[in-house]
Amino acid sequence: MKYTLDEHVRQDSRIPNIYRDARRLYGESDRVHHSFSHVMRDLYRALVIAADESLVNYSVLIPAVLLHDIGFYTDDFKLLGHDVAGARLAREILIGLGYDENASGAICHCIRAHKGKAEQPQSLEAKILYDADVLEKAGLVYLIFGGKIVCEFNETIHDFLAREISDRTTELNRGFYTRKARELDGGRLNQVRSILSQIKSEIEEERPDFCINEEALWMNLPAES
Ligand SMILES: [Fe+2]
Ligand SMILES: [Fe+2]
Repeated sequence: MKYTLDEHVRQDSRIPNIYRDARRLYGESDRVHHSFSHVMRDLYRALVIAADESLVNYSVLIPAVLLHDIGFYTDDFKLLGHDVAGARLAREILIGLGYDENASGAICHCIRAHKGKAEQPQSLEAKILYDADVLEKAGLVYLIFGGKIVCEFNETIHDFLAREISDRTTELNRGFYTRKARELDGGRLNQVRSILSQIKSEIEEERPDFCINEEALWMNLPAES
């Protein structure tokens, strides 16, 4: 089975406008992980999950997935969270493209809820977006994406591991919302959490050499000449 956008565009001619706006927005940034490539992976996963569900509103789901991480391209995402900041920007874009308040509200709920933090997913479309985004972390390839995230967020390995292990634990406790997402996961999210925990133990208990900084190399750091 093919999971493409073509049929959905025939049903809703506004989708190409959102697609073009999203591709341009994500393309303008140098974010190495939260790019249009990530959005395309989430979009594909969302279409696969949605095909297994009934009564999915694709006019809500597709714009929500396309716009779900645009919060990273706002000035206030560190203050508000990229989910809340993204929903605000998405609303401006959607109203500008002629969406009414109802449609815009349904799409923005999905964006605000895609981390399960600012808001919990209530609608089917929000649950599908949440699952599609969590599945990005449910595979060994995420250990490679993790390196990109460390670079993008300019964070230490310790901070990355603490945040990621905490998030994976919350996601595992919450579980996936859809049957298809559980099938696609196949235990991989738990495997990734376990490997991240092993890395944390290794660098904290056995191999501190992986996290050496200047403070560890000197008792008295030489002054700048
Ligand atoms: Fe996100
Ligand atoms: Fe995302």
